[in-house]
Amino acid sequence: MSLFLTFEGPEGSGKSTQARLLYESLHARRFPVVLVREPGGTRIGDLIRRIVLDLQHTEMAPTTETLLFSAARAQLVSEVIRPYLEQGGIVLCDRYADSTYAYQGYGLGRDLAELRVITNAATGGLRPDITVYLDLSAEEGLERKRRKRQGLPPVEQRAVPVEWNRLDARELAYHERVESGYRELISADPARWHVFDARLSIESLAAQIEAVVEPYLATIRTLEATP
Ligand code: TYD
Repeated sequence: MSLFLTFEGPEGSGKSTQARLLYESLHARRFPVVLVREPGGTRIGDLIRRIVLDLQHTEMAPTTETLLFSAARAQLVSEVIRPYLEQGGIVLCDRYADSTYAYQGYGLGRDLAELRVITNAATGGLRPDITVYLDLSAEEGLERKRRKRQGLPPVEQRAVPVEWNRLDARELAYHERVESGYRELISADPARWHVFDARLSIESLAAQIEAVVEPYLATIRTLEATP
């Protein structure tokens, strides 16, 4: 068996910190685990990331943006995610297809049915087993990210470097559409999504997320157990 877990949430929700903590914990317990982020996670994907998030690329058409995220995802699925799952490993992915539905679909108003077709082509239909959602209002998330970027005192919990990208720079209304889009995605598939309050402490969130993952671990062979 394998496990494919994705992290989703608005900007500044602390998902990258939680993804890293879960990775470190599973790695220390000798589970075969890999952590990747979108867009990126491969050499080609990192190049696409630079194009799609560059603040200077203000002329980028929504279709271009959608296809670039999907191209980075196609590469990540074929180069890393699928092979690792086929070996019985655990893949942790910081953002995945739900980000496209939330940001390009609900945020930019792209047709959701069309996004599903594009996403299926990019992923070969690969869906996560579990999705962890760190819940924070769009306003609070952007404020956290802004403070971090300006080097202001840490009123929030992200322990990773913060970049301010083309998509962060979009107006608050856009981020609010993304947030309510996530709510629709969650209510359409509640069994897959595990929602946590992103304002809880780093430690408490990490413990709660690990508790969700725990039952799945019984089916994963640890590195010692591999012949
Ligand atoms: P990043 O700096 O990784 O932000 P975060 O820490 O919030 O994940 O930038 C990723 C940005 O790309 C973020 O604003 C969400 C956006 N995005 C999309 O719009 N569509 C997508 O399909 C993906 C994967 C990300």
